[in-house]
Amino acid sequence: MERKTVFSGLQPTGNVHVGNYLGALRNWVKLQDDYDCIYCIVDLHAITTEYDIAHFANDRRGAAKVLMACGVDPERSLFYYQSQVPQHTELAWILGTITGTGQLSRMTQFKDKADKAGSNLGLFAYPVLMAADILLYRADAVPVGEDQKQHLELTRDLAERFNSRFGDEFPVPDPIIPEHGARVMSLQDPTAKMSKSDPDEGSRILVLDDPDTIRAKLKRAVTDSGSEVRLDWETKPGVSNLIEMMSLFTGTAIADIEAEYGSGGYGRFKEAVAEAVIAGLAPIRSAYRNLDDAEVERLMQRGALDARTKAEGFQQKVRKRVGLAG
Ligand code: TYM
Repeated sequence: MERKTVFSGLQPTGNVHVGNYLGALRNWVKLQDDYDCIYCIVDLHAITTEYDIAHFANDRRGAAKVLMACGVDPERSLFYYQSQVPQHTELAWILGTITGTGQLSRMTQFKDKADKAGSNLGLFAYPVLMAADILLYRADAVPVGEDQKQHLELTRDLAERFNSRFGDEFPVPDPIIPEHGARVMSLQDPTAKMSKSDPDEGSRILVLDDPDTIRAKLKRAVTDSGSEVRLDWETKPGVSNLIEMMSLFTGTAIADIEAEYGSGGYGRFKEAVAEAVIAGLAPIRSAYRNLDDAEVERLMQRGALDARTKAEGFQQKVRKRVGLAG
């Protein structure tokens, strides 16, 4: 049977954190066993908000390196920088012609970002480029965290709209969202998601944080009133976030964590969470140290070359459908 295609992307702004890892990257890695996977560092998405131009090339390679250290395998998956495959932006333009501006203005991520940093056309069209990323390769499934659900809905709408207007071309892709870990919360405000753009470094644990930093961040993590370690997102969001994190890093059931730490107080529990996270991230840190910058860059260039060939084959069909074939 023909293998199905998976596509996903990550922005190279800031450092990769445990939210990215638990919400998306762990699935990226697992899916490589059974799907044709295409993974992308979405640099064109990253430049829609303020970014550090001088360090961008470095940040981009850093993100590629972390992903390889997490287990994204360029020998098994197609892995590259989005801007090096121009078919993404060509398809985004075409999809833009069937996207309602009303629908785009209702995107919650757009509204959040525009409120904080001001709007621009790139930020407004961001979800259309994301739809193009996915549809370009006719992806069947897209592993993401909960915050990308609305963008996936738009992608599905656009696939259907394109198919009905121009003829059946795109599969309607399904999101793959994990049951647990799809929305890892900020350590400083457990009612907000952990995010790369939060100015408070203490709000997130980076995949490459050293053990002492992880201990310090978890010690400072905001917990809730009371002292019982029990999963209850309504009244104990801080503790629930830590319980979930511990369960995902150790593979221990939530009920077993509650039984072991329930009445021992928050201090002892936070120390145990820190050790679980440190142990879970240790193999990634050590794989990262063994990766060579020049080799990573070589693999990314090779990935872009392969991706361009594949994308061009698909894109020719789109040009024909819309009446732009030469
Ligand atoms: P980005 O770079 O913000 O995040 C990468 C992935 O991490 C997930 N994620 C989280 N999961 C759980 N808890 C959190 N606190 C958390 N924060 C982030 C995200 O859901 C995402 O899966 N728009 C995308 C990038 C993108 C893309 C695509 C994704 C561009 N094109 C095509 C899929 C398919 C983004 O900004 O992800």
